[in-house]
Amino acid sequence: MTDLAHNPLGGLPDKRQVAASFSRAAQSYDSVAALQRNVGQQLLGQLPAAINPARWLDLGCGTGYFSRALGERFPISQGVAVDIAEGMLQHARPLGGAQQFIAGDAERLPLQSASCDLLFSSLALQWCADFSAVLSEAARVLRPGGVLAFSSLCVGTLQELRDSWQAVDGFVHVNRFRRFEDYQQLCGDSGLTLLSLQTTPETLYYPDVRSLTHELKALGAHNLNPGRPGGLTGRARMLALLNAYEQFRQPQGLPATYQVVYGVLRKG
Ligand SMILES: C[S@@+](CC[C@H](N)C(=O)[O-])C[C@H]1O[C@@H](n2cnc3c(N)ncnc32)[C@H](O)[C@@H]1O
Repeated sequence: MTDLAHNPLGGLPDKRQVAASFSRAAQSYDSVAALQRNVGQQLLGQLPAAINPARWLDLGCGTGYFSRALGERFPISQGVAVDIAEGMLQHARPLGGAQQFIAGDAERLPLQSASCDLLFSSLALQWCADFSAVLSEAARVLRPGGVLAFSSLCVGTLQELRDSWQAVDGFVHVNRFRRFEDYQQLCGDSGLTLLSLQTTPETLYYPDVRSLTHELKALGAHNLNPGRPGGLTGRARMLALLNAYEQFRQPQGLPATYQVVYGVLRKG
């Protein structure tokens, strides 16, 4: 079984690996993205009621589900969808929603300064080790009065899986997440006005560990941490993992917690 998880912060992830992993997952992503749908909908619900962007950006658009939602919500606006994974863009492009689908990195946006009124990003920025670079890019591409609305993940995410692996060996199997306090600090220092920032846990339940790890793989959320163990996971270690995870079992199944962060900021 592959070792899987989310964003490392203990070492810089190789962005080519992140892109390749999500490109490979482009076909399977939508079938397992229930949490991602739910979180993106919550984020859409947090946009300021009066917002009417002439140009919006869906950053880390993935398969483009929320590019299409934004296209429907703002039918006369111009939409741009950006993702680091070419495979995701190839999947999203024919489905429309945005006028442009561009390969690019949230830490170095391929957009002109002061060219957008809304920057929407759902569950992509946990992959960026340098969140202050993301915020300064957002501040650069937004026009005065423009809004950044993001959802991301913080410490506590996949904690059950992390703790279970910890009981088995000392390797990094689940990537690190920023602390919520770091989101607070970085947003506070960004020069953007913070309209709201909160975190809320979402728990999914699985019949067994394999269902969870298969789902993470189908999402493209591999562990790309430099400290991950190489080679195959031995049968004995895998059995130890299954055993360790059992201590978390609840009547609904094995829980996997996602600690979701929602932030809304305005420029100027
Ligand atoms: C979990 S998916 C979310 C996709 C979509 N926003 C949704 O909610 O369904 C994360 C996406 O972020 C993209 N991504 C990761 N790092 C990125 C970066 N540095 N810049 C732009 N996109 C990135 C991935 O390629 C992937 O498509």
